[in-house]
Amino acid sequence: MSSTPKNFTNPRAKHNFTGRTVSIAGVGAYVPEKILTNAELEKLVDTSDEWITSRTGIKERHIAAKEEFTSDLATKAAERAMKSAGVTADQIDLIIVATITPDMVFPSTACIVQQKIGANRAAAFDLEAACSGFIYGLEIGQQFIMSRTYDTVLVIGAEKLSSIIDWKDRNTCVLFGDGAGAVILQNRENSHGLLTAVMGADGSKAKLLYMPGGGSRCPATPESVDARLHYLRMEGKETFKHAVQAMVSAATEAMRRCDVDITKIKCVIPHQANRRILDAVGERLGATPEQVFCNLDRVGNTSAASVAIALDEAVNSGKIQRGDLVLLVVFGAGLTWGAAVIEW
Ligand code: ACO
Repeated sequence: MSSTPKNFTNPRAKHNFTGRTVSIAGVGAYVPEKILTNAELEKLVDTSDEWITSRTGIKERHIAAKEEFTSDLATKAAERAMKSAGVTADQIDLIIVATITPDMVFPSTACIVQQKIGANRAAAFDLEAACSGFIYGLEIGQQFIMSRTYDTVLVIGAEKLSSIIDWKDRNTCVLFGDGAGAVILQNRENSHGLLTAVMGADGSKAKLLYMPGGGSRCPATPESVDARLHYLRMEGKETFKHAVQAMVSAATEAMRRCDVDITKIKCVIPHQANRRILDAVGERLGATPEQVFCNLDRVGNTSAASVAIALDEAVNSGKIQRGDLVLLVVFGAGLTWGAAVIEW
């Protein structure tokens, strides 16, 4: 179960005329020092450790300092990924930052990271697909390498969600945390690398999970601030249902494209939104509990950073070894979803 099955063919190879395969050459993550426990949340809103633990599985989350921004978290994760890949800043051709909490509306957080890590040659942009952003970023980064436009791409998922959380809303404030994860994508011959990625979206359900204020539709005014429009809003129950359905279907499609079944997957890394979502997705995919990676008890939902932080932890804890097949599967606002199969 732990290594690539015999007769396995990289689905990319069939349609890939450039002869390139894309490897995740290195991974890194960073979470802020400060930990916010369920016990501390009990003092902020009408909630309990018992409710949060039993309904979500979350025990604590990390919260960035006042002067610590998404770009700072992203930079720390990026530097760790570069070190793990043995890549220097001048080698990076492109930086993609997936985030819903950029430092500013513009310029992009990717440009700020470019300056902070000194990747002066790199193009840089942000992408926004909420909690699905990291898989969207992987797929976009991979396409640039497959097309021979670039050789080395830095993909980062980074969030300071504490900056858009309504600390008076017990329905949402207990769920989220801050953090960042990053990978270096590179063309590496004779490597299966990133095998396939599936992406999807359904804009008709945008209002299940959104932030009404701050954009061109509702710029900041004293009234919009008073009405608490600059905070994240979510219809939890409905979002939950769509999350399970979309994640199962994206994961199934990704495995179908690679011609592998769940028994060949060493580790399933789902978006860390809720323990009950992880259990339902794992069960419907036919995965054993041991196959499904979970770190949300310690980090909560970190949106675009979620699977990147989990991947880093799975690699560094030895749960994933070189050659293992790994299934990443995500879901978020938009609605958006995605799945990717990688040979680590
Ligand atoms: N403490 C105590 N009680 C609470 C809390 C809390 N923190 N939050 C809600 N409750 C109460 C509610 O008020 C409600 O009370 P009522 O019955 O008196 O009205 C009761 O608990 C049940 O509330 P539900 O919303 O039905 O609880 P549910 O079991 O659905 O759990 C949750 C809520 C955890 C939000 C869950 O629905 C969920 O995880 N949803 C999916 C989230 C998700 O998938 N996010 C992914 C994308 S995230 C992104 O893109 C940024």
